[in-house]
Amino acid sequence: MRRLLVTSALPYANGPLHLGHIIEVVQTDIWVRFQRLRGHDCLYVCAEDAHGTPIMIRAQNEGITPEALITRMAGEHQQDYRGFLIRHDQVHSTHSEENRRIVCAMYERLRDAGYIARRPVRQAFDEQANMFLPDRYVKGQCPRCGTADQYGDSCENCGATYTPADLVNPVSAVTGTTPVWRESEHLFFRLGAFEEMLRGWLEQGALQAQVRAKLAEWFDAGLMDWDISRDHPYFGIEIPDAPGKYFYVWFDAPIGYLASFRAYCDRTGTDFDSYLKPDSPHELYHFIGKDISYFHTLFWPAVLHGAGYRKPSAVYVHGFLTVDGQKMSKSRGTFITAKRYLELLPPEPLRYYFAAKLGNGLDDIDLNLADFVARVNSDIVGKLVNIASRCAGFVARSGGVLAPKLPDEALYQAFLAESEMIAGLYDSRDYSAAMRELMALADRANQYVDHHKPWALAKDPARAAEALAIATQGVNLFRVLITWLSPVLPAIAEKAAAFLGSPIDRWDSVREPLLGRPIKAYEPLATRLERATVEALVQPAPAAAAPAKAAESPATIQIQDFAKLDLRVARVVNASTVEGSDKLLRLVLDLGDHTRTVFSGIRSAYAPEQLVDRHVVLVANLAPRKMRFGVSEGMVLCASGQDDAGGLFLLAPDSGAVAGMKVN
Ligand code: 2FM
Ligand code: ZN
Repeated sequence: MRRLLVTSALPYANGPLHLGHIIEVVQTDIWVRFQRLRGHDCLYVCAEDAHGTPIMIRAQNEGITPEALITRMAGEHQQDYRGFLIRHDQVHSTHSEENRRIVCAMYERLRDAGYIARRPVRQAFDEQANMFLPDRYVKGQCPRCGTADQYGDSCENCGATYTPADLVNPVSAVTGTTPVWRESEHLFFRLGAFEEMLRGWLEQGALQAQVRAKLAEWFDAGLMDWDISRDHPYFGIEIPDAPGKYFYVWFDAPIGYLASFRAYCDRTGTDFDSYLKPDSPHELYHFIGKDISYFHTLFWPAVLHGAGYRKPSAVYVHGFLTVDGQKMSKSRGTFITAKRYLELLPPEPLRYYFAAKLGNGLDDIDLNLADFVARVNSDIVGKLVNIASRCAGFVARSGGVLAPKLPDEALYQAFLAESEMIAGLYDSRDYSAAMRELMALADRANQYVDHHKPWALAKDPARAAEALAIATQGVNLFRVLITWLSPVLPAIAEKAAAFLGSPIDRWDSVREPLLGRPIKAYEPLATRLERATVEALVQPAPAAAAPAKAAESPATIQIQDFAKLDLRVARVVNASTVEGSDKLLRLVLDLGDHTRTVFSGIRSAYAPEQLVDRHVVLVANLAPRKMRFGVSEGMVLCASGQDDAGGLFLLAPDSGAVAGMKVN
């Protein structure tokens, strides 16, 4: 049995996941699920990338510790992963004891082997903040074209690259003061010492052709020493023999893969070294975006090798996600967070759409919203699920038991004959080709049913057995397809397994068709996407259901601003949990002359039965908000602390108030 260890890039713990992150974890998760379905032992680990200046500064700005920030972000990221059905074996953090230990041990091995150099570096220093400034924290005029407000490493206008010292009128992005230049000793990783090893590694087929071409350019330009240290204050791992200095976040981030795996090994009794030793028979794969290739194809294999570990079996690089042909952008509204997507839509349509677009190259992938709706409705609803839904009824009419024999064994065998070809496409991450092949088979299955018209046969009681046989054929063809699509559509596959009364957990289980055995009544496996809901992805999200945080509120408003709010007393008629959300409750509210449905994020604080007949305060004229679960027609008011710490408390009028009363 092959043993594989797989990772996706570690997201920074200072911002929400967006669909650019999601395409990568979906690409990885499909591959991992596919390997497991083929019977391999495939582990998938990830972690929060918790260190570095941006995280330190964001925490300062929020008035919280970096630890509090990264804990909060980790919680949000976990929820997004769950929402998109990403099945990690371990999600850990680079800010962990495991990482500190492995980082320090690897550094010491590199140092002892002579791969670490020390020399002074002159760097911008903010005297007010008392800190050295990373290049991106110095801003000023471009030395080449004069454009103002450019970062210290490159100009967005003319593309010039330079150092912060070259900027005209530089200022610190932290305090706005003019930086001074100071020297400090830095530690460098001697990447150049690994050139021959790296050239040999890339000959072993670990990289895609386009990445190899890029590497050739980097080799030609010469491999430079890599600065792996940063001075205090820095949120990171202190360097054992250089007090007041910390490892640069990019040194400890990929080691976070190993730390996460270490945590997994400790939890499950798995042998860490057997995966990491230089001659390990097991496989190690990293899925990443093309912007971080240099780190993963040069530094990372060199650091691993220099520290006495094995190198990756392969690094799989993907392109960027665009939305309707444009780079995701906050100002254009095309920056779609994972959370916003999940508020509106279920995960599998997007998993399928990404699969249908992902090849194994570095091309960018476009989420075209109109095409998304059309493709999902046509392929998943119109083709795939349709096979099961149109056949199930005929089985039900025959007592819910499948026929004892396939009427068209040859057609079934024709499907099975595609098995290894489709598996090969998954294995080589050519998911778009795999989806094309699978949909071509779905077309054939539908044509088979169309041709044999079981609905016509079923009208004649004497031919009911024939109708059942046709339906049995259809159900079995559907089973082949959903089994091979289960890495992409795991929740639909789970529902299909319940319908079929047979688990979907092995690629080859379809070799034997299901015959002469009962299946369950059919329940819808997928529903059509609505254009308007999908378009809401790129419309500004309405105000969140939580109360506005004091810090974000303007200091004062005018009475006419307040008068715009239509606040009403409402009585809770019904409260229920919402399948697929661990935050929301669905409230049906009586407003005296009509009722409203409101989704409220209060599940952590209230059980539904506690709420019935209580009076609450409703913002009645809030624009209706389309959510994945339905439309929310208003917002109920709650008191809460920062980030709901300390609980949520529904506001209620004193006794005597009745539904419909205005609150002012
Ligand atoms: O670019 C990024 O978002 C990084 N946080 C990725 C780190 S991947 C690995 F090296 F940890
Ligand atoms: Zn310029």
